[in-house]
Amino acid sequence: MSQRTFSIVKPDAVRKGYTGAILAEIEKAGFKIVAIKKMSLTDEQAQGFYHVHSARPFFKDLTRFMSSGPIFPMVLEKDNAILDLRKLMGATNPANAEEGTIRKQFASSIEENAIHGSDAEDTAAFEIGYFFAGYELK
Ligand code: CMP
Repeated sequence: MSQRTFSIVKPDAVRKGYTGAILAEIEKAGFKIVAIKKMSLTDEQAQGFYHVHSARPFFKDLTRFMSSGPIFPMVLEKDNAILDLRKLMGATNPANAEEGTIRKQFASSIEENAIHGSDAEDTAAFEIGYFFAGYELK
């Protein structure tokens, strides 16, 4: 069944000029781009987005990194979108990511890992609503 997920091309990938190549991988894999924009997060906005990780030791570095430059948040749609995007992204740590995955090709470290993808339906709903208004999701 058709499903929506939320993704971000992260600041490391945008800085390196990988945005177009990552979007091409996503479209090649059959995702429809429902909404996309370019923006920069404040540290406070990054903290709100990653609130589930607030107790983790890497939280401060993570929000500093995510607010370090422009990102492309987007909403993607296809059958089984959440799981299929996680597969296409590869493991969180690019050192463990399979050949051909986005992180294997474009990520440089466990933190600067090129792309975000929602891990479940409830987090996808929260994350889509954090970045996009209903009228942008037609
Ligand atoms: P993401 O899928 O966006 O969700 C949480 C992010 O935290 C993750 O990608 C990584 O960028 C980052 N992250 C997860 N684990 C670690 C870690 N052990 N050290 C540093 N950053 C991490």
